[in-house]
Amino acid sequence: MSIEIDDLADKVQWEKGLISPEIFIDEKVYREELGRLFGRAWLFLAHDSMIPKPGDFFNTYMGGDPVIVARQKDGSVRAYLNACRHRGMKVCRAEDGNARNFMCTYHGWAYDISGELINVPNLADAYHNDLDRKKWGLVQVAQIDNYKGLWFATFDPTAPPLHEYLGDMTFYIDSWVDHVPGGIEILPGVIKWTIRGNWKIAAEQFAGDGYHAQVTHSSSLGKIGEGMWGKMPEGAQFSSRHGHGHSMVFGRVTRFDDDPLSVYNAERNPVVEERLGSSRTNMLGNFTVFPNMSGLPASANLRVWHPKGPNTFEIWSFTVVDKDAPEQVKKAQQLSATLTEGAAGIVELDDGENWNLMGQILEQGYQTRRMDWNYQMGLGHETEDHETYPGRINGTYYGEGPQRTFYRRWLEFMTSEKWPRVDAVRESGDES
Ligand code: FES
Ligand code: FE
Repeated sequence: MSIEIDDLADKVQWEKGLISPEIFIDEKVYREELGRLFGRAWLFLAHDSMIPKPGDFFNTYMGGDPVIVARQKDGSVRAYLNACRHRGMKVCRAEDGNARNFMCTYHGWAYDISGELINVPNLADAYHNDLDRKKWGLVQVAQIDNYKGLWFATFDPTAPPLHEYLGDMTFYIDSWVDHVPGGIEILPGVIKWTIRGNWKIAAEQFAGDGYHAQVTHSSSLGKIGEGMWGKMPEGAQFSSRHGHGHSMVFGRVTRFDDDPLSVYNAERNPVVEERLGSSRTNMLGNFTVFPNMSGLPASANLRVWHPKGPNTFEIWSFTVVDKDAPEQVKKAQQLSATLTEGAAGIVELDDGENWNLMGQILEQGYQTRRMDWNYQMGLGHETEDHETYPGRINGTYYGEGPQRTFYRRWLEFMTSEKWPRVDAVRESGDES
């Protein structure tokens, strides 16, 4: 059984809060998604701090395609496919590093850091000098741009500019990249692991699912989680018409009184408050930048959900710290992030267990694929405007508005032949 694109609107009835789990397991949907969604959307690549010097590069993926992000001699950044133009072999197998050239290990074609083909063995005697090297450089992304140090790219030359794509989400991104004068950096060492499940399940959870924490994380959060039980914490949710989502609890979590992180955070908060106002200082958020970049700023954690098959994805987890924080604080932050949100982190394991089990059921089941999943929490109760927060705001911390708008946007990408522009002047336009 496979789903045709024309049938997808029946599978994704976001306005009724009904989603068919077939979109998480169907091979054809996955194949189409690689082109229609990951081939067109702006995707997060890397942060400036990961590639500070000329020749620095980071190997990542855009959808299923391996991509090298590299700092150029003039300080600019380029991104191109990590696939040799001769037979498609990877030209660089390191995860990151610094290089002047990349030489393909199959037949030795070599490319410089800008992606230009600079050497072809036996060009004179075997190719009779007939190969135009200028035409056979590595395939560049169509557009690349930066928002406050975060590099994004798209393979679609018709995609709107990055700032339009991010929309009101920048207000929330600023709360963790631009909250202190020195900005952030991403520490070396990306933690990567595999989940048997579909990437969308994780992306939607980070956009809007604060609801799971009191049950899923009840044991791991221990004392910190005590206040989460029963009554819904005070908070709100942002649902972007562009598919992004941000959920926030009002207030601050004080972990302990005297560890270096808590001391640093207590000293930093007045600076943040002056810069961003209290609305973004006194809240803890989790978010998804559509489609597959998510984060938990309070846990110093940023992650990308890389699709690896209809029922497999990789989590790439980055630790984000304030660039100007003392080294001791950065080390403490890294340790804390690894112990909670790393591959074996006490919080992360809870989520992974859910996602793996859900993926197993969908992979093996038949009847279970045929029942709709319920996304109706808060349906019809979304409020439109908020005096403090921009965009479409739902005035409760629990709700499935961000998830519904995530799938609304996903459906638009999957079913539009042209780049699916959001024409509303304001993001808080109507639901129809
Ligand atoms: Fe790269 Fe042949 S595949 S040189
Ligand atoms: Fe969780």
